[in-house]
Amino acid sequence: MKALQPTILALAILAAPAFAQVNVSIDATKPGPVINKNVYGQFAEHLGTGIYEGLWVGPDSKIPNTRGWRNDVVGALKELKVPLVRWPGGCFADEYHWRDGIGPRNKRPVKVNTHWGGVAEDNAVGTHEFFDLVEILGTEAYVNGNLGSGTPQEMAEWLEYMTSDTKSTLAEQRRKNGRKEPYKVAFFGIGNEAWGCGGNMKPEYYANLYNHYATFLKTPPNARPKMIASGGNDDDTRWTEVLSREAARGTDGISFHFYTLPTGVWEKKGAATGFAENEWFSTMQQTLRMDGHIRRNVAILDKNDPEKKLGFYVDEWGTWYDVEPGTNPGFLFQRNTLRDAVVAALNFNIFHAHAERVRMTMIAQMVNVLQAMIITDKEKMLLTPTYHTYKMYIPFQDATSLPTAVNNDVAYSVDNKSIPGISASSARGKDGKIYVALVNTNPRQPSDVSIDLKGQAASSATGQVLTAEAMDAHNTFDKPQAIKPAPYSAKAVNGKLTLKVPAKSVVVVAVES
Ligand code: AHR
Repeated sequence: MKALQPTILALAILAAPAFAQVNVSIDATKPGPVINKNVYGQFAEHLGTGIYEGLWVGPDSKIPNTRGWRNDVVGALKELKVPLVRWPGGCFADEYHWRDGIGPRNKRPVKVNTHWGGVAEDNAVGTHEFFDLVEILGTEAYVNGNLGSGTPQEMAEWLEYMTSDTKSTLAEQRRKNGRKEPYKVAFFGIGNEAWGCGGNMKPEYYANLYNHYATFLKTPPNARPKMIASGGNDDDTRWTEVLSREAARGTDGISFHFYTLPTGVWEKKGAATGFAENEWFSTMQQTLRMDGHIRRNVAILDKNDPEKKLGFYVDEWGTWYDVEPGTNPGFLFQRNTLRDAVVAALNFNIFHAHAERVRMTMIAQMVNVLQAMIITDKEKMLLTPTYHTYKMYIPFQDATSLPTAVNNDVAYSVDNKSIPGISASSARGKDGKIYVALVNTNPRQPSDVSIDLKGQAASSATGQVLTAEAMDAHNTFDKPQAIKPAPYSAKAVNGKLTLKVPAKSVVVVAVES
């Protein structure tokens, strides 16, 4: 073989991806708060094909199903160990009247889903169907009540219908409709986005309404759900301020919504695929704002609720792009790529760092809508990169967070703007093992991450990595496995555990002593 000319050799060295050197320190001797498994909750709204077709096909469908719920989708979701599902909305919740969704399905009224696409809503999925899904998935229920267009009486009666163990007419009606035992409502939301689709209210007005409605929500003493006051979004902290002062009685937490838009502009959010590196960068930059949002709201909670009774529930988050061309704009259908997987992991690492207050979050949404886990087309189904991130992070559910610091990060910069290159999180899982999650935001530069683990020896690490050649790598029905996790392992050299973290990747490993 001919020897390479020195100039060619120099160019080859320049072209080879140099590994940036980063150190992550983890202190296993100072366990922090538990990462509530409900941080990994999911949102399923009557929106587009999020429920109808995506999850529910009806018992007479040719698509294999269990009492109407499609087996393929439910099977895949079961593998994610989804802890909590929110239903029926969202904006839909404040237009939903629960009596439309009980009794024989062929007698239920057909309404118009005025918020999402103006399509017919035949109420095939109602309270009993939803709880059937919850039980099939082995998850828990977060039911969102209608404050915007309902009444305190309607809301109170729904709760009684679901939870009463008495012989009341409503409890008997539930039994007649097929459910003897009360349902377990783990969380109950009193309205949604009251600042917008839930009624365009001011926080003070909603706080009064919250207290008004909450007064009438009665359940058997051991069946009271965690009550959620519907809070603010984005930079607006007034809702947390007002609600933590005025609506704190009987409230378990205040919700918060924040969506990641590549451009940060609702009118032109950016495309889900085919984007340039500057939109990869801005998406990362936008999503990292979650940390500041949490910090500012938690500071208010710490002032108004020093006993830390209130949780801060980010019960809607995820990417929101321009809808896929040619689809119903009211259906919020978008493709899901490696970028979404990285966004999900960055948010998980942020939530873990705030585990004390962030005790529940919900990605929007579960199937076919926004940053979905699963995409379906009639009888076909595919798993998205976001699905894979959720699966890789399962060991963090109910794990004990560990103090984790990135010490000498190499920033990722585009157009004179910079964000952290490496995001890290670690926890001691319920199995006693230490898990480390690393995210490389840089789509061009791999990273060598040395781990300083205090309190435990580290001889090797094994787990999975999720990455791909293209920033917008995604699965299609023709190539459903185009992007999926690959096995990953690293061994300590001279007592030092160093992980090679590829560009634009998510790595989750268990550390072996
Ligand atoms: O997730 C889609 C919508 O986004 C929800 O219905 C609403 O709460 C939010 O504005």
